[in-house]
Amino acid sequence: MKTLDVQAAYALLNDALMHYQGRPVGTVAALDPDGPAAANYEECFIRDFIPAALVFLNDGRSEIVRNFLETVLHLRTHGRLTAGHETQPGVMPASFKVVADAEGNESLTADFGERAIGRVAPVDSMMWWMLLLHAYAQSTGDTEFSERRELQRTMREIMELCLRDAFEVFPTLLVPDGSFMIDRRMGVYGHPLEIQALFYGVLQTAGEWLRPMPDAVAIIKAAMKRKQTLRTYVRIFYWLDLERLNEIHRFSVEEFGTGSVNMLNINPDSIPPRIEEWFPEQGGFFVGNLGPGRMDFRFFAQGNLLSVLFGLATEQQAHELFRLYDAKWDELVGHMPVKICYPALEGAAWHLLTGSDPKNVPWSYHNGGNWPALLWPFVAAALRAGRRDLAERACDLAGGRLLADQWPEYYDGKKGRLLGRRANINQIWSASSYILSRQLLEDESRLALFPRDPNA
Ligand code: GLC
Repeated sequence: MKTLDVQAAYALLNDALMHYQGRPVGTVAALDPDGPAAANYEECFIRDFIPAALVFLNDGRSEIVRNFLETVLHLRTHGRLTAGHETQPGVMPASFKVVADAEGNESLTADFGERAIGRVAPVDSMMWWMLLLHAYAQSTGDTEFSERRELQRTMREIMELCLRDAFEVFPTLLVPDGSFMIDRRMGVYGHPLEIQALFYGVLQTAGEWLRPMPDAVAIIKAAMKRKQTLRTYVRIFYWLDLERLNEIHRFSVEEFGTGSVNMLNINPDSIPPRIEEWFPEQGGFFVGNLGPGRMDFRFFAQGNLLSVLFGLATEQQAHELFRLYDAKWDELVGHMPVKICYPALEGAAWHLLTGSDPKNVPWSYHNGGNWPALLWPFVAAALRAGRRDLAERACDLAGGRLLADQWPEYYDGKKGRLLGRRANINQIWSASSYILSRQLLEDESRLALFPRDPNA
């Protein structure tokens, strides 16, 4: 028997299905009766569709997921010329929609960043697509699908793109600002954690589903090597706990050569003074971004949670992350699970790093807002880390409120007590995230939908 909140979330999810030539191929981002906050919410966003897709898989409606995977793949193979350069094979759109002409003939249009607000690059789309392919194969046992030539080719192209070096020095993936869930300018360019966690999951997926045909052998080998170096690097250099903070506080700088300890030349004075007071005795997290002379000490939820889910974090780190959540529940979860990033950028930092973005004012939207869409990674990661208590606590906190507020996109305020100022209601991402969280709690074996290296 489904509870009222779950029933309502399902009703919304079913209403949101988007059809193309009679077949369901995705869901629109929001069904706000007053019209969504922006025109693009009528599109199907790849990242938004993930929890819905996982719900469909758990419910045995896998044909919707297969249709979606094929549709996005089809959009990808068309490629396109934008501003004098061709979108690389492997790149997938941020979103797509079905348009009908006067005669009712349907066609698909997609956004590869050339229409997106701020023209941001949807780097995470191809990664979520691969991860969903993994989930589809795991759930249905339909391995023939991923064996198909075009599927294998697409995976190869994605891997070639991710493994291609431009000016890299680090094993992490270099991306522009706003190339993932935070798709606005927020100082998240370079090597943001969320992309690294997704990248790690994708490398694992490639190892499992790419067939060692002659044209893939070298790619698989490179992917496995990269997976190891990425994992070691993130586990050491992104990790922050009290012990590490002490080390950084006493770092020497200007070390030249291969033997340096403070390799990235992080200046101890760049540690924000608030951190010393804020850090609990126990607990830790991965910092948001890392580059030359740069450690972004902000806490970004999605990257941390996916790191636990895909096993980029060690078991101990996973444990410590949830100790931190437990100790800092008010700040990192508050009244709505969970806060996207902590703390917010304020004053001059907001002005400089967001470009005075009015949507991202302190404690709103991406800049410290609380997002129900992050409930499912929280629940999944908490279960992985053996913290069922926190997973249940978060779900119980979210359900009634989301139902009463009609599935808003996000909440504002330090503790997430205010409905997001420009939030859509009936945001499908929020509703499907809630259903999926309940499904994971109901049956933990569903965690097998996500890739994980058993030997790491
Ligand atoms: C906003 C979010 C993005 C999401 C989109 C559709 O742009 O930042 O992550 O995919 O809305 O809901």
